Amino acid sequence: MEKVRVGVIGIGNIGSAHVNFIASGAVENMQLTALCDINDEKINLLKEKYPNIPVFKKYEDLLKSGLTDAIIVSTPHYLHPIIAIEGFKHSQNVLIEKPAGVYTSIVEKMNKEAKKSGKVFAIMFNQRTDPLFIKAREIVKSGKLGIPKRLVWIITNWYRTQAYYNSGEWRATWNGEGGGVLLNQAPHNLDLLQWIFGVPKRVRGFCTSGKYHNISVEDDATIYAEYENGATATFITSTGECPGTNRLEICGDLGKIVLEEGKLKWYKLPKAEREICFTEENGFYEPKVEIEEYSYKSMDGHQVIIRNFANAILNNEPLIANGFEGINSLMISNATYLSSWTDSWVDIPLNQKEFENHLKELCEKEKLDNKLKSEEKISDNYNQRWQVRW
Ligand SMILES: NC(=O)c1ccc[n+]([C@@H]2O[C@H](COP(=O)([O-])OP(=O)(O)OC[C@H]3O[C@@H](n4cnc5c(N)ncnc54)[C@H](O)[C@@H]3O)[C@@H](O)[C@H]2O)c1
Repeated sequence: MEKVRVGVIGIGNIGSAHVNFIASGAVENMQLTALCDINDEKINLLKEKYPNIPVFKKYEDLLKSGLTDAIIVSTPHYLHPIIAIEGFKHSQNVLIEKPAGVYTSIVEKMNKEAKKSGKVFAIMFNQRTDPLFIKAREIVKSGKLGIPKRLVWIITNWYRTQAYYNSGEWRATWNGEGGGVLLNQAPHNLDLLQWIFGVPKRVRGFCTSGKYHNISVEDDATIYAEYENGATATFITSTGECPGTNRLEICGDLGKIVLEEGKLKWYKLPKAEREICFTEENGFYEPKVEIEEYSYKSMDGHQVIIRNFANAILNNEPLIANGFEGINSLMISNATYLSSWTDSWVDIPLNQKEFENHLKELCEKEKLDNKLKSEEKISDNYNQRWQVRW
């Protein structure tokens, strides 16, 4: 194979960016050979724009067509693992959009099918390509920060207006999306958190649904997580704060790193704080701190991940974001939801059945609320809400 023949399934906001990029010929060892979207209007537009590329309405037909060696799945989240599983069964190399799915049991099935197929399996964690996060990971993994103590990430610059949530029926609903900011925007950061600092052993989550928008899922969340070695992580995210913040601080016993405003600052202690604490006689001793600062130019991460996917298929290039790792951030967000719903600590790995039962309840309640709302609209009776209420 000289060029990977790729099909894109789900051509909305991000799918059309992937299609444009590949169709432009920018990935020299990849060729766009099939397109798929369920929406008739989009199908017509795609046919007009790409008259030489077959457009399918059903992903099953694209998979059976024999036109592709690889697929990129950029549909709403629930479908990522479902389509990926079918893709692997049809000997496709698969790149899925984040998140890996909505609940972990189906993601485990996807991972099993991926393993069985032996095909390349990648996930679009494009922020892993950012040089500052790569540097942060290198520092933490090298042990140069010493024993990890704490991570604090305020990631509230995911601001979205109501118009964003109104732009698609599946958005911000339990039935269509399966979650809010933790499942749509913050998976990038939760992935980086686990990629740099590891997966915690238990979490306590606080999620508020519809705090800033008319939506049924959470648009504000705080996670407090504990690690096996005693380290902790606090993670705060929201789509309702403006101006937002993106500040990641990781502290170890040899110093700390702070990533903010496109810079990484590395604060280095001359020796381990634990040693200073128990050997220094001056109770108010302040060690000299050396500071190194880094800033880099970053490239569009989506393009880097797509090129890497093609090179992994053709030349065994190591994947930047291996699809099997998608479950880690999903495990953290699922555990956070469960913790918030049950007002208790949740261990990782979480009880999948318990999570799924709660999610099912929320989906059923949402369906009922929507039914009541639509009945209310056509009712011509006076409404109790308009009466004087004491
Ligand atoms: N990596 C990133 O930076 C990034 C950015 C945006 C979105 N995403 C992810 O991409 C996915 C899509 O998000 P979006 O904003 O593009 O949504 P979108 O609603 O704009 O696009 C989704 C598309 O999927 C199509 N679709 C739905 N069901 C389908 C099916 N059964 N078969 C084929 N097509 C189907 C829809 O018609 C629509 O065109 C989400 O999972 C989201 O989290 C990732």
